[in-house]
Amino acid sequence: MKIHGKPFRTIWLAADGAGVEIIDQTRLPHDFVVRRLDSLEQAEQAIREMWVRGAPLIGVAAAYGMALALRDDASDGRMEEAYRRLFATRPTAVNLRWALDDMRQRLAGLAPPRRLAEAYRRAGQIADEDVAMNAAIGRHGAEILDDLWRVRKAAGARRLNVLTHCNAGWLATVDWGTALAPIYKAHEDGIPLHVWVDETRPRNQGASLTACEFDWQGLDHTVVVDNAGGHLMQHGLVDVCIVGTDRTTAAGDVCNKIGTYLKALAARDNGVPFYVGLPGPTIDWTIEDGVRDIPIEERDPGEVTHIQGRSASGDRVTVQLTPDGSPAVNYGFDVTPARLVTGLVTERGVCQASRAGLLSLYPEKRSHV
Ligand code: MRU
Repeated sequence: MKIHGKPFRTIWLAADGAGVEIIDQTRLPHDFVVRRLDSLEQAEQAIREMWVRGAPLIGVAAAYGMALALRDDASDGRMEEAYRRLFATRPTAVNLRWALDDMRQRLAGLAPPRRLAEAYRRAGQIADEDVAMNAAIGRHGAEILDDLWRVRKAAGARRLNVLTHCNAGWLATVDWGTALAPIYKAHEDGIPLHVWVDETRPRNQGASLTACEFDWQGLDHTVVVDNAGGHLMQHGLVDVCIVGTDRTTAAGDVCNKIGTYLKALAARDNGVPFYVGLPGPTIDWTIEDGVRDIPIEERDPGEVTHIQGRSASGDRVTVQLTPDGSPAVNYGFDVTPARLVTGLVTERGVCQASRAGLLSLYPEKRSHV
C-alpha cells in the first residue's frame, strides 16, 4: 500500500539486516511512527501492546520475534523459551501458533549458526507469503463485489455499500489485508464503492485504522458507531458485509473482533450477504465448535472505561468515560456460527463456511479433521 505515494509494508527487516521495523499502530491515525525491534522482549511488547495487531501480522511479528530471540543464543533452550513467551502474548489469533509452529519445525534440526540465518530467511518468506495470499483473497473477493455491483447498478444504484468491522486491512497483515483486499481490488477495477466503517470499541480499530487506510487510499467511507449496522441494513444502506477473522474452525465458525456476531445476525435478518476474508493460516483445523473451543482474549478493562484521542491542542490524551465505581469487562472477540456466514473468501477461492466447503479448497487437510 502507498502512503502519500510511498510504498510501505507494515513490517520489514531493517537496513542492517538484524533489527525489524514496524509501524506503531497505537499512534495512528494522528502520528506515523516507525519503531525498531531488536530483541525478543521488544517483539513480545509489540504484539502484547498492539503496536502490531491483526491476526496475520501477529503471526509474522512472532516469526521475526523468534529470529530476534536467536540473535545472541540460538540454542534449543532459547528457541523453546522464545516459542513459549511469544505464544503467550495474545491468545485468540491462531496465526500466532501457526507461525511459531512453522518456525520451530524448520529450525529444530539445524545447528545454531545455520539456525539464525534460517530464522530470518523463513520469517521474511512468511511475510512474502502473507502478501501473496492476501492479493489472491482480493482477486476472489473482488469478483463477488463485481457481481453484486452489476445487480445493484441494474437496479439504479449509484454505488455499492459495504460494511466492515474492526480493521482487517493492510494494517492487520503485511500488505493488502484480508477483508479489505477485495475492496482495494474492486476499487482498482473502478467499482464505485462506499464503505461503512464500524468504529469498533473499545480500541477503535475501525475509526482509527480502517478509516486511516481508506483516507490514505482515497476510498469513499463513513465511520459509524458500532450499533448503527442494524439500522443501516434495515434501510437498505448495506449491500454486503465483509469482515476478517482471527481463527476459523474446521467447521467454518468464525472468531473475529467483538461485535462481529451481532453484525452477522443483523445481516441474516435483513438478507444482506455476510462474507469473511481469511488466509489458510487462520484456519484452526484442530477444532470444530468455535463458541466452545476458541480462547477469547480478555484485555485490560481500562480500554473500556477510558478512551484515547487527540485534543483540540493536538496532544494525545486519555479520558475516563465511566464513574469511578463502575467495573468493566473487556472481551476482545466473539464467534459467529458458520450458519450465519454466506461464504469464506480464501487465497484458494470462495467456499461455504462448513467442513465440506473448507475441505474442497484444502483437500490436504482431510487427514487432520
Ligand atoms: O485485536 P486486533 O486488532 O488484533 O483484532 C483484529 C481483528 O479482529 C481482525 O478483524 C482480524 O485479526 C482479522 S485481520 C486480517
